[in-house]
Amino acid sequence: MARLRRVGSVAVPGLRTSANHLRPPAAIAVLGGGNMGSGIAQACAQAGFHLRVRDVDAPALARGRALIEKMLAGAVERRKLTPARRDEVLARIEFTTDLTEAVRGTALVIEAVFEDEAVKRDLFRELAPLVGPETLVATNTSSLSVTGLAEGFPNPGRFAGLHFFFPAAINKLVEIVGGARTDPSTLSELERFSYLVRKIPITTADRAGFCVNRYFVPYLNEAARLAEESAASLATIEEVGRELFGATLGPFELMNVTGIPIAFHAETSLYRAFGPAYAPAPRLEEQFRSGKPWPWKETEVEPEKKPVVRARFLGLTFGIATRLVEEGVATAEATDRGAVVGLRRKWGPFAQLSGLGLGEGLGLVEAYARNWPGNFPVAQTLRDRAARGERTWPLSLVRVERSGPVAWVLLDRPEVLNALNSELLRQIDATFRDLETDPGLRAVILAGSSPVFAAGADIEEMSRKSLPEGIEFGFLGQRAADRIERFPAPVIALVEGYALGGGLELALAADFVVAAEGAQLGLPEVTLGIHPGMGGATRLTRLIGRARTKMLVYTGARVSAEEAFRLGVVARVLPADSARDDVAAIAGAIAANAPLAVRWVKQVIDRGLDASTASALHLEAASAGHTFGTDDRSEGMKAFLERRKPDFRGK
Ligand code: CAA
Repeated sequence: MARLRRVGSVAVPGLRTSANHLRPPAAIAVLGGGNMGSGIAQACAQAGFHLRVRDVDAPALARGRALIEKMLAGAVERRKLTPARRDEVLARIEFTTDLTEAVRGTALVIEAVFEDEAVKRDLFRELAPLVGPETLVATNTSSLSVTGLAEGFPNPGRFAGLHFFFPAAINKLVEIVGGARTDPSTLSELERFSYLVRKIPITTADRAGFCVNRYFVPYLNEAARLAEESAASLATIEEVGRELFGATLGPFELMNVTGIPIAFHAETSLYRAFGPAYAPAPRLEEQFRSGKPWPWKETEVEPEKKPVVRARFLGLTFGIATRLVEEGVATAEATDRGAVVGLRRKWGPFAQLSGLGLGEGLGLVEAYARNWPGNFPVAQTLRDRAARGERTWPLSLVRVERSGPVAWVLLDRPEVLNALNSELLRQIDATFRDLETDPGLRAVILAGSSPVFAAGADIEEMSRKSLPEGIEFGFLGQRAADRIERFPAPVIALVEGYALGGGLELALAADFVVAAEGAQLGLPEVTLGIHPGMGGATRLTRLIGRARTKMLVYTGARVSAEEAFRLGVVARVLPADSARDDVAAIAGAIAANAPLAVRWVKQVIDRGLDASTASALHLEAASAGHTFGTDDRSEGMKAFLERRKPDFRGK
């Protein structure tokens, strides 16, 4: 498709596309073929990248290869992968001991060697002369300073932290860490890369423990402290950890599986950074030195002791999570996403804090802090919110990024492909309501914060709804869609990835839909025992006619962006690599035109649809006539005659 003409300058949020070379089948080098390195390499190869795994000697490489083969064999056994796909993935991974060979022509180098600062620094020294200024270099670290590791590196702007979670091939969380000199564009390239390798990124500042380990590792340590104090049996502590956070494993079993030494070392580095409140429990060290797993199964659960354990875990978790936000390390949304995606907890600290109420949460934090006078600061924002009587901590599921006269409204629940739950629908409605009165706004782009629009209404939430709640939910969705449809300025829906069910219904409320190549659109509601209710059936019928709508709705089939274009659902198909830039160009072109004329003709087209032809024609003539009374009309025509660009003021 021909490139769209760029009009004005409409910046593209976070996920820059066209200037990014980091997409399959680009080459990526992973330095270190251990547990983390092999998992990272596998995830990248599965996404279509060409991988070069480098380690120091042949036995180390053989171990790395065996780890990948084992993981892939498991995936084939669980029928997640066909044998043919496994072979394809393996064929994309090369193994070498030669560093120069490994990094030649790569778009990204991921260092994933042993978590030892001296070892990493030596490797970066060796690497520095071998990579060009375009290559991104990332360190996979969970505890070392990214700024420190970037020191002396010739291109610190292209250097960042990329903290994958264990097991790296499967766990979807990745923390993107900017060092003091990391370029913002490096972070957005890594964000886009993370989605390409099917990860969910969260961005964090370069402080010890980054986001997730800062509250997760102390939780493991707290379990050891509680055991040491004989506050409860190991089995009690284990069960509370599981129940409280909705996790499959409690703290002791987690350490048994992932390694007690790792917990001990991670807590030690937090202790160095933050002082005694983070000191490793002697009981943790003892268990680590013994080389034996935690014997929690050998003890009995003592139900009467659960409240003490619960209070300690919550006080610690809320205390650290609120500090993370106050210190600017991570947002509340990222903190919760980290817990749900990376730790597979049912809810994150802030959702849990809101569930309990900020007043009660503050009480637990203060009680915990009393054990560590002067060493466990209580977030002032938590105190202030609680003092104002706020019950919940606000969590945004919609992000707005303003770029001159264009606003990007970004649906932001990437961990569930932007599944539309009640809260997200309410926030979409509120966001568009707030933007209605924004005087300088000339166009809106509605898209996902990740390269996915929305995979429909939230099935998990819907499955729990009663009949009256289901009816209310339908109207809630319609309110959000109506708000978009009636928005005074043009709204463009950019569909990347999926627009299914309620997701497509929402997109159809926009003035028009553009889709990126590779996107899939559909109305699969009848496959779930329901049917479209957010206006999708009605709007689609008006857009593409009765027969085509019925075919899509009755079959529930997903169609490609190209097929959706042929059916008339989509106004234009954009190359996936430049979709964001291209839609910005379309919005820029709209924004450069006379705002009143654009807004009025939007009304003419929409209102005219429901009117008789005669009334619609009359409305069109009357409205067009009124444009002659605007300053923009005078300016537009004067500019044409004077052969210059018009300066429209919307008056
Ligand atoms: N509701 C809740 N969660 C959803 C979801 C939805 N509609 N769609 C995806 N997710 C979640 C998945 O459960 C998964 O979560 P976990 O990582 O915790 O397991 C995560 O998002 C990623 O999804 P998948 O692993 O399934 O991703 P995939 O790439 O393998 O498949 C997909 C993508 C084909 C879109 C698949 O997720 C899917 O079929 N989703 C459901 C689509 C659907 O039926 N939507 C219509 C809902 S009904 C409706 O929308 C009606 C209405 O308005 C009232």
